[in-house]
Amino acid sequence: MNIIDGKKISSEIRAEAAKKASLLAGRGVIPGLAVILVGDNPASISYVTAKEKACAEVGIRSFPVRLPREASQEELLGHISAFNSNPDVHGILVQLPLPEHIDESAVISAISPEKDVDGFHPANVGKMLLGEDAPLPCTPHGIIELLVRCGVETSGKHAVVIGRSNIVGKPVACLLMRRKPGPNATVTVCHTGTKNLAEYTRCADIVIAAAGRPGTVTADMIKDGAVVIDVGVNRIPDQSRKSGFRLVGDVDFQSVAPKASLITPVPGGVGPMTIAMLMDNTVKSAERAARLN
Ligand code: GUN
Repeated sequence: MNIIDGKKISSEIRAEAAKKASLLAGRGVIPGLAVILVGDNPASISYVTAKEKACAEVGIRSFPVRLPREASQEELLGHISAFNSNPDVHGILVQLPLPEHIDESAVISAISPEKDVDGFHPANVGKMLLGEDAPLPCTPHGIIELLVRCGVETSGKHAVVIGRSNIVGKPVACLLMRRKPGPNATVTVCHTGTKNLAEYTRCADIVIAAAGRPGTVTADMIKDGAVVIDVGVNRIPDQSRKSGFRLVGDVDFQSVAPKASLITPVPGGVGPMTIAMLMDNTVKSAERAARLN
């Protein structure tokens, strides 16, 4: 079977986080995560709901905040400031994207770096790039963890990342190129400005598809035996479903799966890993705070 079971691997990580959370609870510290959502983007609602549900399972207290689409930046910053100084809150997550009238980078910079469980604060991005200890962004870290736990050899291999977002493309490229005992891969980053994408992906041992577009990777673009990680989460209208849509990744799974040595499905691949790594970051942040107490 060459399909990576992200659900199973993520539940192992959540169980490890739950164990650490219960040790902390024994010392009187309940890990706390503030989850802030602005607006009513359906995908964002489903992500934050899943994050809060995972918190409850792991033993993390969640502090949900729902703001209307029209909420001002000042109001949002007010909530962040209150959570920054609340000792019961160890992690603060502002679900992205934010409505257009809100300055995303000002919001991210307002989160205390110690409570930045997304690893998006410029100070933490800088530390990650330097290879210093910092909370790692959840999706990229989840991808590395999948590769490690599936025993994928990355050292000296050619990894091609498709996408250059701050949330996935850039940080996953950074993590993949880390020296041993890190992945130690040779990394190529492709994006919308890349001419002839297939020329790059055909010589990849590992393809990380994070373009946000269905059908970005097809069978002819993949070397036999490559490892294919699909980060895409695209909603396709489907009237046969109760929800009215189905989820597909960036990879044409049907045609690519037979050629790949390992491949992640959508859903059930990378998605659950993002949430598991968020739980891990939150518990680690609570552990750090408990040591300082
Ligand atoms: N939007 C898409 N992915 C993420 C994520 O990992 N964290 C946050 N805060 N927003 C996102």
